[in-house]
Amino acid sequence: MDRRDFLRTGAAVGAAGLGRLVAFPGMSLAAPQVPGQEASSSSVVRLNSNENPLGLSPSARLAVEKAIPEANRYPDAAREELAEALAAKLGVTADNIILGNGSTEILQVIVQASNAPQGTLVLADPTFEAIAWYQRTLTYATEKVPLTSGFAHDIQQMKDRVAAGKGPAVVYLCNPNNPTGTLTSCAEIDAWIEAAPETVQFAVDEAYFEYVKAPGYWSAIKWIQDRPNVIVARTFSKIYGMAGMRLGYAVAHPETARRLREYLTWDNANSLALAAGLASLADEGLEARGRAVNEVALTITRNCLDELDLGYLPSQANFLMHRINGDAKEYIGRMRERGLHVGRPFPALPSYNRLSMGLPEEMELWAEALMDFRQKGWV
Ligand SMILES: Cc1ncc(COP(=O)(O)O)c(C=O)c1O
Repeated sequence: MDRRDFLRTGAAVGAAGLGRLVAFPGMSLAAPQVPGQEASSSSVVRLNSNENPLGLSPSARLAVEKAIPEANRYPDAAREELAEALAAKLGVTADNIILGNGSTEILQVIVQASNAPQGTLVLADPTFEAIAWYQRTLTYATEKVPLTSGFAHDIQQMKDRVAAGKGPAVVYLCNPNNPTGTLTSCAEIDAWIEAAPETVQFAVDEAYFEYVKAPGYWSAIKWIQDRPNVIVARTFSKIYGMAGMRLGYAVAHPETARRLREYLTWDNANSLALAAGLASLADEGLEARGRAVNEVALTITRNCLDELDLGYLPSQANFLMHRINGDAKEYIGRMRERGLHVGRPFPALPSYNRLSMGLPEEMELWAEALMDFRQKGWV
């Protein structure tokens, strides 16, 4: 299969998927042309931060414009409205919801609220590093547990580290995991939650929940009414395309939510982000559009990697970790010279690169560059 062939395959899959799923008026696979949803004017291709290349949905843009005249007012009413809408979507009540300035603020307040002498923070390696960052001024001992050979959280090892700790523990479970895009068995997580004492605080990060296609995956939200020691963090940054607006949330037992609120910045979600969030939740096709474009991008990416015989991890998210047959920094630098920003190095996976999914056209540019790198003997 030559480059043209695999790009065609990706484009064909994409066209079918998009056609079936949603009206994308006038959208070509080359660039989204939904009114009010123009591609970014940036000259670089950003495939490095797991963002959503579609940007804000048209209805969210409209909602932001409509909210501007009230931007001089504090956002109390909008906060309540969004919490109610989230609760209705998730089958919980508004007192189970706390809003964050992105979901990283949720992770920050979790470690702040659970800080205790001789506490331990247990997390995977590699995983999303925000929670480890936020604990650095606190008193935790941090225990990093390598992923299994199948790139899942090593639950047994994590349990052992919790048991070896001298005090309470915070356990961070990122599912799907960033930067690998891989899943950890929800049944295994459930069994641990069921058996664990209340001194073990679970922080389950479901930032990429909406992208998961694998059967047998479910949310840890099912635990929150019975287990005050389970907190689920979610975000509007990924499938809702709102990374720059900073809006995330946690779902937890009302008592736990109350405890976490003590640490949040007052009015931490701004009124424009709240308006965009509310409109996004009401936009019924939004998640399907995001998944469809992501699927096209993944197909183009995998076809290229297969063609070059470069292995990759089974991603359930909007990014993919793949082999590069060489030095990560050199690879990243060479891609930058072509105007392509790819993921940073991850020391735990030195011969891999994390590639965030962009628009199909952007993935084609990346594939072209990678093919060229192969010809030069670089990958
Ligand atoms: C696993 C995970 N959690 C949280 C976040 C941060 O999300 P937010 O933009 O909501 O702070 C990211 C961002 O990349 C992520 O990968």
